[in-house]
Amino acid sequence: MLDVKLFQMETFLSEPYEDSLAPLLKSAHERLQDGSGLGGDFTGWVHLPRDYDKEEFARIKAAAAKIQGNSQALVVIGIGGSYLGARGVIDCLCSPNYNLKKKSTPNVYFMGNGLSADAMQEVLDLLEGVDFSVNVISKSGTTTEPAVAFRFFRAELEKRYGKEGARERIFATTDKARGALKSLATAEGWETFVVPDEVGGRYSVLTAVGLLPIAVAGVDIGALMGGAAEMMDLCAAKPSYECPAWRYAAARTALYRAGKPIEVLACYDPAFRFMLEWWKQLYGESEGKDGKGLFPASVEFTADLHSMGQYMQDGTRNIFETVVRLGASEHQLYVPRDEDDGDGLNFLAGKPMDFIRDRAMEGTLLAHTEGGVPNLIVEAGGKDARSLGQLIYFFEYACGLSGYLLEVNPFDQPGVEAYKKNMFALLGKPGYEERKAELEAKLNK
Ligand code: PA5
Repeated sequence: MLDVKLFQMETFLSEPYEDSLAPLLKSAHERLQDGSGLGGDFTGWVHLPRDYDKEEFARIKAAAAKIQGNSQALVVIGIGGSYLGARGVIDCLCSPNYNLKKKSTPNVYFMGNGLSADAMQEVLDLLEGVDFSVNVISKSGTTTEPAVAFRFFRAELEKRYGKEGARERIFATTDKARGALKSLATAEGWETFVVPDEVGGRYSVLTAVGLLPIAVAGVDIGALMGGAAEMMDLCAAKPSYECPAWRYAAARTALYRAGKPIEVLACYDPAFRFMLEWWKQLYGESEGKDGKGLFPASVEFTADLHSMGQYMQDGTRNIFETVVRLGASEHQLYVPRDEDDGDGLNFLAGKPMDFIRDRAMEGTLLAHTEGGVPNLIVEAGGKDARSLGQLIYFFEYACGLSGYLLEVNPFDQPGVEAYKKNMFALLGKPGYEERKAELEAKLNK
C-alpha cells in the first residue's frame, strides 16, 4: 500500500504542526465525504471508485475492444483534465515510447491540447493509410482547442469512411445533457460517454474521460479502479494521520506556512513525466486562487539534476520537494564488466541499474535536505495499474484536503474560464462583441 514518509521534517518545522492541523483536516475530511464544503457539488470523485456507473464501465471496455479490433490508431482529443490523466497513465504503464513499440493495441495520439498547426499536420500525416478512430473529450463541449482539432479529424474520418463509417469510429465523452458536443453527438448518432456533473475535469481520470483511452492502450482498468478503491477505503476509514493523504496534506500546508510556497514533484522514472503534468494541473488549478496556493513544479530525475539540480541545491530557499518512488524496475539490467576499465567504471560492474538509481536517490535526498530543501517521499509501490490507481486517488484526496486547509474552493477554475472567455471574444465568437471591443482597445489594435 502507498505510504508517505517525511524526511527529517523536524529540521524545517521546529514547531509541531500535526496537532494544530488535525481538527482542520478532520473538518476538511468530513466536508469531502459528505460534499458539504466549498464546491461540494463537485465531490463526486470521492466515492467514484466504488459508485461508478457499472453499465458504462462495461460499455467502455466494449468500445475499447471495438477500437482495438478496427483501428491501428486512436486520436484522443481533449485538453487539461480531459487530456492529462489518460496520457499520464498510458505513458507510465505502457511507456513514453508506446507508439513506437511492437504491440497488438492501437497507437494513441493526443490532440486538441494546443493550437499548433504543425503538430496537427504531423498526426494527420502519420495517419495516412492507417485505420483510426477518434475519442473527443470535453466536459463543457465548448473548449476551443479540442473543438478545432475535432473538426479536422472528423472531416478526415468522414472523407475516408463516409458519414456512416465515421459514426462507427467517433466516441464522444462529454456532459450527459449539455453543450455543443453533446448536441452534435446526439444529432450524428455517435456513441457517447459521460463526464458526471459532480466530477470536474482534473478529477476525472477515473471516469470515461481517462478510462476509454487507457483501456484502448491495453491497461487493466479494473485493476486501476481497484487500486483507487483501496485508497478510497483507507481515506474514508482512517480520518487521522494513519491516512497517507493526511500526512502529505498536513506537511505541505505546514511547509507553505513556513515560507516554502513552491512544491517540486520529482520522479526518477521518465515514464512518470505526464503523471507529473497531471499532478501539476490537479494542484495548480485546485489551489491557485484568491491570491493563495502552493506553486506546483516538477522535475524528472536524474536528467534534471543536471539542470534544475543547481537551483534546487543552491537557489532561493523557498522550495520543498516531494519524491515519488515507484519501486523496482520491471527489467533488471546489470552494468557490463569491461576488462580495460578505460572509463574507470568497473566498481559498478555487475551492479543492477536500480542499485545505481537508488544511490542517486539517497544522495540527492541528503544533499537537498542539507541544502535547505525539505523532502517528502511518496512510496508508490510499483509501476502497475493497481498501484497507480492508489496514487491517483491519494493525490486527489490530498488535494481536496489541502484546498480546504487553504480555505479555497478546490473544485472551480475561474482563472481558466477568464482566458477562455477572452479567447472567444478576440476570435469574434457571437455574443462576445462588447468584450472584444474592450480587449482590442487594451491591446491597441
Ligand atoms: O480541470 C478542469 O476543469 C479543466 O482543466 C478542464 O478539464 C479543461 O479546461 C478542459 O475543459 P473541457 O473538458 O470542458 O473541454
